[in-house]
Amino acid sequence: MTQDLDVAKKRLAVAHRVTVLTGAGVSAESGVPTFRGAEGLWRNFRPEELATPQAFANDPKLVWDWYDWRRGLIAPLNPNPGHVAIAKMEGQFPEFLLVTQNVDGLHRLAGNKKIAELHGNIWFTRCTDEGTIAENRQVPMPEIPPRCRCGALLRPHIVWFGESLDYDVFQSVLSACRACDVLVVAGTSSVVHPAASLAGMAKDSGAFVIEVNPEETPITDFVDVHLRGKSGEMLPLLI
Ligand code: OAD
Repeated sequence: MTQDLDVAKKRLAVAHRVTVLTGAGVSAESGVPTFRGAEGLWRNFRPEELATPQAFANDPKLVWDWYDWRRGLIAPLNPNPGHVAIAKMEGQFPEFLLVTQNVDGLHRLAGNKKIAELHGNIWFTRCTDEGTIAENRQVPMPEIPPRCRCGALLRPHIVWFGESLDYDVFQSVLSACRACDVLVVAGTSSVVHPAASLAGMAKDSGAFVIEVNPEETPITDFVDVHLRGKSGEMLPLLI
């Protein structure tokens, strides 16, 4: 492990372009449940019942009740040392992009500005009619499901199963993964595509790929370094 850490640090020390890809595991030490662990969020809920456009069309109140519960859970939480380390990395490299699958907003709170939020952000709503996106930090929501001033339903500004990622955001992510010297992949099970294919893409384009995860994942076999451990402990050691 010490040797792997040293190799990873040396690569980062000479890197100009760095991309970081994060998943729910990075927020676990802040108290946000992951999706697939023993205590994972999907354990108690079926994704197709809650995180799909069909679910929202069938029962917007049920879907909003779930998001309202998650917003209430996340609201008092703070970034952990893993988030802080990633925020510091943004200032260390001439070219940097943080690609996150997390919707909790904790990376922004830690200070990252160059962020591509692949799956949206739970603190924003989108009008189902006009498409207007607005920040909304009300916890709990005074009215469920909430409505836009135009009268149409508001939905969480989240990419649900069966929906496409924002085209422009994803293009910038593809460029950052193809062009980076080092890709750090932290706290993701690497099973949800297209995010899960980014590590392979970066590797094929010549990047040095570092994975931080207490468990093995489908990308562990081909990454250059697998740092086995929690991101709140491992990431501060990298910088
Ligand atoms: P998962 O819940 O699938 O995976 C979390 C990963 O974090 C697992 O590989 C854990 O081993 C790891 N982990 C747990 N604790 C950790 C810690 N302290 N430090 C580092 N790693 C830790 O979450 P994601 O990979 O983010 O999509 O899931 C991807 C997407 O699936 C989510 O964005 C969400 C979900 O469906 C949408 O909601 C659209």
